[in-house]
Amino acid sequence: MAEVLREDVSRRGFINWFLGTSAGAFLVSVLYPVAYYLVPPRTGESAAATVTLSIKPNEVKPNTGQIFKFGSRPAILVRTPAGELRAFSAVCTHLNCTVQYRPDLSHIWCACHNGHFDLNGQNIAGPPPRPLEAFTVNARGNQIVVSKSA
Ligand code: FES
Repeated sequence: MAEVLREDVSRRGFINWFLGTSAGAFLVSVLYPVAYYLVPPRTGESAAATVTLSIKPNEVKPNTGQIFKFGSRPAILVRTPAGELRAFSAVCTHLNCTVQYRPDLSHIWCACHNGHFDLNGQNIAGPPPRPLEAFTVNARGNQIVVSKSA
């Protein structure tokens, strides 16, 4: 009788342990991907403070813009219709799409939700809530050096 009871208890213990661990494993297998999806990776701001572009100043025509990499993030180099070189973060301040230059409008545009920025990076139309981050551009001889503004 005692032997049967002990066997019954250990079987029950095993079943409880098994169900407990499978329920735990199930919860972990469901919650981990959800938590991983919801918590963004810690990429942070680009650590680069200065970048020398592979483009030469005379290769950038007025009323054009081109994307370059500033650290790990996209940036945009613009030559205004008046001939001035400017650079901004190309990450839209609305939902982080990459902006582009629109020669027909002579300003920076985000295709995702029709956001517009002027040639100072100011948000002038559409949903972007803030200006683009502006960088300092120096054309040194045959090089263009872009740095974070102080
Ligand atoms: S992400 Fe640029 S306008 Fe929405």
